[in-house]
Amino acid sequence: MNSNVIIACDFASAKETYAFLDRFAEEKPFVKIGMELFYAEGPSIVREIHRRGHKIFLDLKLHDIPNTVQKAMAVLSSLDIDMVNLHAAGTKAMMEAALQGLTREDGTRPILLAVTQLTSTSEMRMHEELLINGSIRDCVCHYAQMAQEAGLDGVVCSPLEAGMVKKHCGKAFLTVTPGIRFADSRVDDQVRITTPSRAKEIGSDFIVVGRPITAAADPVAAYLRCVEEFA
Ligand code: C5P
Repeated sequence: MNSNVIIACDFASAKETYAFLDRFAEEKPFVKIGMELFYAEGPSIVREIHRRGHKIFLDLKLHDIPNTVQKAMAVLSSLDIDMVNLHAAGTKAMMEAALQGLTREDGTRPILLAVTQLTSTSEMRMHEELLINGSIRDCVCHYAQMAQEAGLDGVVCSPLEAGMVKKHCGKAFLTVTPGIRFADSRVDDQVRITTPSRAKEIGSDFIVVGRPITAAADPVAAYLRCVEEFA
């Protein structure tokens, strides 16, 4: 099934992840692999999930000097992933280097997204600890614009910020949004959330959904509900 619903596979081991994916007999959902799983299992888990026919968003949020990020991105690109990300705060030079590193010999490359401000950073901490003035919204727009100027494909942001990013950077600039909950499901630790259908209306191109699917009694039914609501 070709859908822009990405399941956040926040599991601690390959074994748990494969047991979860085995439940999807017909669908091959797009999956997100984050730091916990990647650092526990290494590149082999990416190769295996790719071999099983899933598209992969590798959510490692790189942030280092341009040369290091360029070389790391070249390694990740060779794993045949479909989407990867970095911190826009690493500067335009770092983002441009990342793009170069990601581009394969045949000219293809995974989608490259920038993280603007983490949704866990409050405006007060951004002012006091990061010494960034202005509002979070201004900062998100500014970082999104820098990412666009560096040639990136889009940003990871809150679904509630997706419309603002589209207005600022244009429709073609991708927005990939976590913080998704069904209208009748638990909120967990997420704060700025919305439903799949509302995320679509606001302007999300892809939604990233974790616990509403992974912790559901019937994960396949929850995934299909998400796909339908986001369609
Ligand atoms: O379980 P839940 O649906 O909250 O999972 C959301 C996923 O998106 C998690 O993997 C989380 O780390 C990630 N994420 C997020 N907020 C961000 C960036 C990433 O929730 N700003």
